Amino acid sequence: MSRFTTGVTVVTYTGDDGPRGATMNSFVSVSAEPPLILVSVARRARCHDALLDRPFCVNVLGAEQEPLARLFAGAQGVTAPRWAAEASVPRLANPLAWVECEPWRAYDGGDHSLVVGRVTGLGHRDGDALTYAWSRFGTAVESSDDFEYLI
Ligand SMILES: Cc1cc2nc3c(=O)[nH]c(=O)nc-3n(C[C@H](O)[C@H](O)[C@H](O)COP(=O)(O)O)c2cc1C
Repeated sequence: MSRFTTGVTVVTYTGDDGPRGATMNSFVSVSAEPPLILVSVARRARCHDALLDRPFCVNVLGAEQEPLARLFAGAQGVTAPRWAAEASVPRLANPLAWVECEPWRAYDGGDHSLVVGRVTGLGHRDGDALTYAWSRFGTAVESSDDFEYLI
């Protein structure tokens, strides 16, 4: 799996004691109509039950946001997260892109649950992307606007 390069997201939600998040690279787009996305969530993760029953936001990280990826994967003392003001669902400040969702379906995925969310809002900014491959963080440089869309 480590030979498959992905982006990196932090999935944020309201926890018992305020906004929380978990780093996830299993994010994938699923459907345009209705608009659906999926994340594969470990059953043992603290976020597991929350993501089955409340709105959440998938924050796609920019190249400079690796400390946030480490923080929300459980690293200690890395950085303090900044949160977006006036977001009804907890969201990081200034992600490369964000996809707000409400839970739609969940499927058995062995020791994970495949959580499908229905998209209720989204946004993006310019910038390079954070990537994960070979169990290491890296970056993908932003493309210019004149590239050809293949799909
Ligand atoms: C790059 C990266 C990607 C990850 N992707 C996932 C994932 O897709 N699903 C998952 O359940 N955990 C994933 N993890 C592990 C979680 O981030 C980690 O277990 C975290 O502590 C879960 O937080 P929680 O227990 O507070 O919910 C990933 C970790 C890293 C570093």
